[in-house]
Amino acid sequence: MSDSDNNQIRIGLLSCINIVRKLSRAINLSPNATISAIATTSSIEEAKSFTASNNFPINTKIYGSYESLLQDPDVDAVYLPIPASLHVEWAVRAARQGKHILLDKPVALNVSEFDQIVEACEFYGVQFMDGTQWMHNPRTAKIIDFVKDFEIRTVNSCFSFAASESFLKNDIRVKPGLDGLGALGDAGWYTIQAVLVANNFKLPKTVTALPGSVLNDAGIVLSCGALFDWEEGITATIYCSFLANLTMEITAIGKKGTVNVRDFVIPYRETDAAFITSTRGCLSEHKVMTELPQETCMVIEFARLVGEIKNRGAKPDGFWLSFSRKVQLLVDAVKESIDNNLEPVLLSGR
Ligand SMILES: *[C@@H]1O[C@H](CO)[C@@H](O)[C@H](O)[C@H]1NC(C)=O
Ligand SMILES: *[C@@H]1O[C@H](CO)[C@@H](O)[C@H](O)[C@H]1NC(C)=O
Ligand SMILES: *[C@@H]1O[C@H](CO)[C@@H](O)[C@H](O)[C@H]1NC(C)=O
Repeated sequence: MSDSDNNQIRIGLLSCINIVRKLSRAINLSPNATISAIATTSSIEEAKSFTASNNFPINTKIYGSYESLLQDPDVDAVYLPIPASLHVEWAVRAARQGKHILLDKPVALNVSEFDQIVEACEFYGVQFMDGTQWMHNPRTAKIIDFVKDFEIRTVNSCFSFAASESFLKNDIRVKPGLDGLGALGDAGWYTIQAVLVANNFKLPKTVTALPGSVLNDAGIVLSCGALFDWEEGITATIYCSFLANLTMEITAIGKKGTVNVRDFVIPYRETDAAFITSTRGCLSEHKVMTELPQETCMVIEFARLVGEIKNRGAKPDGFWLSFSRKVQLLVDAVKESIDNNLEPVLLSGR
């Protein structure tokens, strides 16, 4: 194997659903990552035409089961765009085979399931990252720089979209056996990340769901809101919904300034992303140029971390495990409050 091959992080994809298109393009645009294999549990023929129509490298291996892909020694890392109900099983099996893991959100059905993933990643020394792309947009780092100085008092974050009738009937995000956390585990995941980002990743003390949540017949959240309280005069609210017009906002208000982002999850444009700050009556619009789409920035960072482990014997970076665990903890707390007539949930000791 040549030196340049050593630099390539070889990624295996478990399943060829639609979202894989976006990620495979991101991997193709990343200098140090390459697609080496894909596994499907349905037709091999379909997988073949999928790899051809999405510009996969011609030597991409196609496996008829997830397990056979995991046993391939020429795969360094896996992307798991599978329903949340399957995460704990397949993430743990991947870790056991020494594969580094890029896992879609919600990372598990609850934090006790996620803790099994944490334990496996730590035991087998593999890198973990959840697949939320906005965290890797260069704009997010700039926003973090501002909120650090602003002494944030309150944050409001919303992510809503009007799902189609067929989504509300058939999508895995509204099915109890699949992504059973509904809008909370999907859109809500991002809003909770935003709240934590604005508060230096510190967990609140209490979580209380707001009145007005909407659940489907199977008890899946389609729309809800929640209040987070740090009990130091610092609060945040979130709203997430499959039943409202498109909104993806963060407003973080501090003693020394306010940050406002209108399109935090998916920027309106791929080539630049904006946000507004106001300080002492002065409103500024900041524009951050983005040479690469944010999902590519994510793959580059993932490949960098995996490369440090593979080629330089570094330890996995635990930030992403710890951040995902905090988000999952808050998702669980909102759900618990909804299930308990909006009772506040105390987080101390969790
Ligand atoms: C790709 O790997 C090479 C060699 O390790 C390194 O010099 C380069 O910075 C990496 N590129 C990115 C975008 O991480
Ligand atoms: C977490 O989710 C799994 C799968 O639904 C369930 O079996 C388990 O009881 C849950 N654990 C807790 C603590 O809620
Ligand atoms: C969102 O609101 C705009 C303006 O009222 C409307 O034109 C659009 O159809 C709405 N979008 C959806 C998905 O309902």
